[in-house]
Amino acid sequence: MKNYINQLPKAELHLHIEGTFEPDLMFEIAKRNEIKIPFNSVAEIEKAYQFNCLQDFLDIYYQGAGVLIHEADFYDLTYSYLKKCADQNIRHTEIMFDPQTHTERGISFETVINGISAACKDAKNKLGVTSLLIMSYLRHLSEESAFKTLEQSIPFKDKITAVGLDSSEKGNPPSKFKNVFEASVNAGYIPLAHAGEEGDADYIWEALDILKIKRIDHGNNALQDPKLVQEIIQRDIALTVCPLSNTALQVVTNLKDHPLKKMIALGLKVTINSDDPAYFGGQLNQNYIEIQKALNLSKKDLYLLAKNSFQYALLDRGLKEKYLLELEKFYEENK
Ligand code: ADE
Ligand code: ZN
Repeated sequence: MKNYINQLPKAELHLHIEGTFEPDLMFEIAKRNEIKIPFNSVAEIEKAYQFNCLQDFLDIYYQGAGVLIHEADFYDLTYSYLKKCADQNIRHTEIMFDPQTHTERGISFETVINGISAACKDAKNKLGVTSLLIMSYLRHLSEESAFKTLEQSIPFKDKITAVGLDSSEKGNPPSKFKNVFEASVNAGYIPLAHAGEEGDADYIWEALDILKIKRIDHGNNALQDPKLVQEIIQRDIALTVCPLSNTALQVVTNLKDHPLKKMIALGLKVTINSDDPAYFGGQLNQNYIEIQKALNLSKKDLYLLAKNSFQYALLDRGLKEKYLLELEKFYEENK
């Protein structure tokens, strides 16, 4: 199964670029920018990556992102992840970035977007990996701050496909961002949001009804409410599920208890994703490998998960068809 998963053509739909920051690269960039980080070795970093909840993780994640200063830093971070995509047969990836994590520290929006998008362009040409960008608003900050970010993004609008909503979920409901999501849609961005990771089902309702989202990041807690499950199915909205993130952040106690199979059985459209691979113990293929083992998923299950990843990508029709055909061929030839 490991070989099968490695070769399976797939897309990644839930990935934070700041969450791909591997310790080696963090040390290298911290050194060249002459920034002190509170760790002296990879072992010390790994020891610090033990989380009890989402907030525990976010505190360390924002600290790590603090060494990113120049366009070249954002380029290196992004290109390093895209190389891993090529190695894992990830054909397409939809990358979230958190502008406010950087603009709040005095780094310009332009520096961030130019570094990330230059890496995406090079990866398409050199590695054949396609990608698009999702600008995520930090929900622990104000709607006013999100509006400022939206404004800053407008000159770079052609480089951004969607908006997202991430960071501390509890106490920051989707309704807090009603107006900025409306304005973002008017600016041409597709609305997406994290919902139901730690927050309850009513946060998912808000994300659907108030923010009008087209995809749910995580969505685990949808299972609290059968009516909500039916609504998600009826609207044909996919969940971007992140197994290793869920165990790392104690959203799920054990992979064997992960609700993925239950979600599929209910008729929900589910995809597998890595969320923040440098922090949660594995890249995308490792997520597939571990969840396959824990839930005894079949080749057909894996194929259907990969199929959803292309089907629910924000890709144009032509490219989507091309990837789906490739996947179909792989499935038929490897039964
Ligand atoms: N930012 C990065 N990863 C996140 C997650 N899993 N939930 C909320 N915000 C995040
Ligand atoms: Zn996430």
